[in-house]
Amino acid sequence: MQKLEVLGGKKLKGLIQISGSKNASLPILAATILSEKKIHLSNLPNVKDIDTMINLLKSIGSIIKINKKNKSLSIHNKNNLDFIAPYNLVKTMRAGILVLGPLLARFHKAKVSLPGGCSIGTRPIDIHLKCLSKLGVKYNISNGYVYASAKKGLIGAKIKLPKISVGATENLIIAASMAKGISVLSNCAIEPEIKDLVNFLNKIGAKIRWTGRRTVKIYGVKKFKENKYKVMPDRIEAGTYMIAAAITEGNILINGIDPKIIKTEIELLKKIGVTINTFKDKLEVIGKNKIRNAKIKTAPYPGFPTDLQAQIMVLLCKANGLSIVNEEIFENRFMHCAELNRMGAKIVTKGNKAYIQGDIQFKSAELMATDLRASVSLILAGLVAKGRSKINRIYHLDRGYEQIEIKLRKVGAKIKRIYS
Ligand code: UD1
Repeated sequence: MQKLEVLGGKKLKGLIQISGSKNASLPILAATILSEKKIHLSNLPNVKDIDTMINLLKSIGSIIKINKKNKSLSIHNKNNLDFIAPYNLVKTMRAGILVLGPLLARFHKAKVSLPGGCSIGTRPIDIHLKCLSKLGVKYNISNGYVYASAKKGLIGAKIKLPKISVGATENLIIAASMAKGISVLSNCAIEPEIKDLVNFLNKIGAKIRWTGRRTVKIYGVKKFKENKYKVMPDRIEAGTYMIAAAITEGNILINGIDPKIIKTEIELLKKIGVTINTFKDKLEVIGKNKIRNAKIKTAPYPGFPTDLQAQIMVLLCKANGLSIVNEEIFENRFMHCAELNRMGAKIVTKGNKAYIQGDIQFKSAELMATDLRASVSLILAGLVAKGRSKINRIYHLDRGYEQIEIKLRKVGAKIKRIYS
């Protein structure tokens, strides 16, 4: 079992390079299934979720050549792919469900394990299924699998997503790219990762146009072409390091991210007292010793991301009054609060609201990570806690943060991985 040990009290200073986006890489990798031609992807982050998606694709027969050194790969999905995404791979990573749309589009059938619940909520896939059925998919669920087929292939349709969902929007856009005729999808999620997926699909030959703020028009195509694509940078990783700079009262230059895509986060941090200077593809974050309290509500993009909710809460523990965080996306995403309270935080949760008393001094503790973003929030608290904190179950962290302890050490943090 691996642990991370963090000794608090260091002001972080220096440069952090942002890795490729995990949440953009996953749907793009799934979307390669559409093409029978070779596709070259670069800037993939070296994290466990990407390995899981690669293993899932390999298990259905993708030929993948990985160049870990320059974080790129070539992928060739010939005509003899299997169409089964097994439980042991989908259970560890919900994004496994993203192979459903492309398998149906190209091979007209798929058997994909249900992702099941996870620590942040039940996370159903009803929207994915309901919307795919409007493209002509018939499905049934048995023994924990979705058995889906579209005997005559997918047929374009006008679909309004009943609720904004990142994954369902992705599955649907990928599937409709190869459906017969035109699809118009409205009430889509518009996270930058979805824009990146659309850019990728267009680069390999899809015909997708944004016709409204949350509406895309897709002219289905039969064949896709060989091409190269560089995945966008990880905005959640960038947001996490912005908070690391702010909480340690440090000064970090965050390199390789367009500040425009994290405007909401920048504005919020500025509002509560953090100094931020933005440049073309980087930003400088300077933490101050006074943080103002705030009321924050998570929301689909361009709102404040749920994936930064745990991290911002740690910063608000240092604010000059009571803050309130309203989690609007997931029903059970406050698992980090109990662990933070063990470190001296004073957070009370009621339903989807957390009340955070400010002005606390974190104390070190032995801690348990519960999900990806919760794990990183414990590291942030550890960075300013008195003493040495140990964080267990860091496999959650390794799912989505590339070389976190190495990046943090480079800017002065006292953090190491312990192998026991
Ligand atoms: C994606 C991100 C995740 C992020 C989330 C919200 C990836 C790989 N993961 O997850 O990091 O936290 O967006 O920004 O990109 N829902 C349903 N039925 C469905 C689908 C979703 O009820 O069929 C609900 C979910 O339970 C949740 C909400 O809709 O309450 C939003 O979920 P969704 O946007 O789909 O999140 P994911 O795509 O799973």
